[in-house]
Amino acid sequence: MPDLLSQLEELAAAARREVAAAADERALEELRVRLLGKKGELSAALRGMGQLPAEERPRVGEVANRVRDQIETLLAEGRARLAKAKLDAELSGPPLDPTPPGRQLLPRGHRHPITLAAEEIAAIFGRLGYEVASGPEIELDWYNFEALRIAADHPARDMQDTFYVDSKTLGGAQPPRSVVLRTHTSPVQIRAMKRRAKPPVRVICPGRVYRSDYDQTHSPMFHQVEGLCVDEGITFADLKGTLAAFARAFFGPGTKTRFRPSYFPFVEPGAEVDVSCSICGGTGRKDGKRCGTCKETGWLEVLGAGMVHPEVLENGGMPKGVTGFAFGFGVERMAMLRYRVDDLRLFFENDLRFLGQF
Ligand code: DAH
Repeated sequence: MPDLLSQLEELAAAARREVAAAADERALEELRVRLLGKKGELSAALRGMGQLPAEERPRVGEVANRVRDQIETLLAEGRARLAKAKLDAELSGPPLDPTPPGRQLLPRGHRHPITLAAEEIAAIFGRLGYEVASGPEIELDWYNFEALRIAADHPARDMQDTFYVDSKTLGGAQPPRSVVLRTHTSPVQIRAMKRRAKPPVRVICPGRVYRSDYDQTHSPMFHQVEGLCVDEGITFADLKGTLAAFARAFFGPGTKTRFRPSYFPFVEPGAEVDVSCSICGGTGRKDGKRCGTCKETGWLEVLGAGMVHPEVLENGGMPKGVTGFAFGFGVERMAMLRYRVDDLRLFFENDLRFLGQF
């Protein structure tokens, strides 16, 4: 029995030495298995207990339990010592830099071609001294139609074109058919004039508009840019110069512009503006064949414009005697001509093979 007891004490002493010498976690784990494991040294020593007289067993058992507790404590202390040493080494080493770029898991995206076109348009007019104005997409009939002299029986109001907001969903707060999804950005003309209260007013208004339409060149939601310039002494020549400068900046320096008389209720005189075809360079022929984009005319119709009607200026609260011009165009159409896209629906299908090209 003294043999067994001293064997146990020797085990504890060996554990103390070896834990102190262990260089890492793995060494400690190996030590634990060797000393305390099922086939370890403590178990081996205790196998001798069977030969002991019964009255000696409790005392040996007691010592064995104490030795096991001691070894477990030693191992825990060893682990704590190693963890602290590791932390100290990290803290005294070169500092952790949390700023290097993360690993790139997904390729970075980019803005949608319609957004790119609208931003470029805004930047061009920005250089001409225009600021960006905006208005609500859910608009009062008054701003969208009435204030722009679009009479109640005007075809533009037809249920076919206009999305009306059901007055029931507005809690009956508005009379029927008085709230619409704006069909163009022209109502922002009125809002911009009212907000600025006095001339000069020089704004462009990019935004979404809605019409009940869907085919290769129409979608129920699309984007327009409105332009408005009001001041003393503004003339049609200013309008022509402004749009010619814009067309050259957007479609290229050789681009020509042409004005054809047209009618819009909110301008007088009104015009439709064509630019020389960006696809065939205005010749009507492309690679010896007829240019399909301009239908061989060499011209593309891109926008409506005119001198702001005096009643519209009055509805916007402008003082008597000032004059102004306005224009409006579709961003999708501009983007189609600029990027040579032949189906407008591609812009809204979110096919990455298409979008990835911009
Ligand atoms: N609002 C018109 C449309 O959506 C476009 C337009 C024409 C705007 C003439 C104008 C303008 O400002 O002067 O068809």
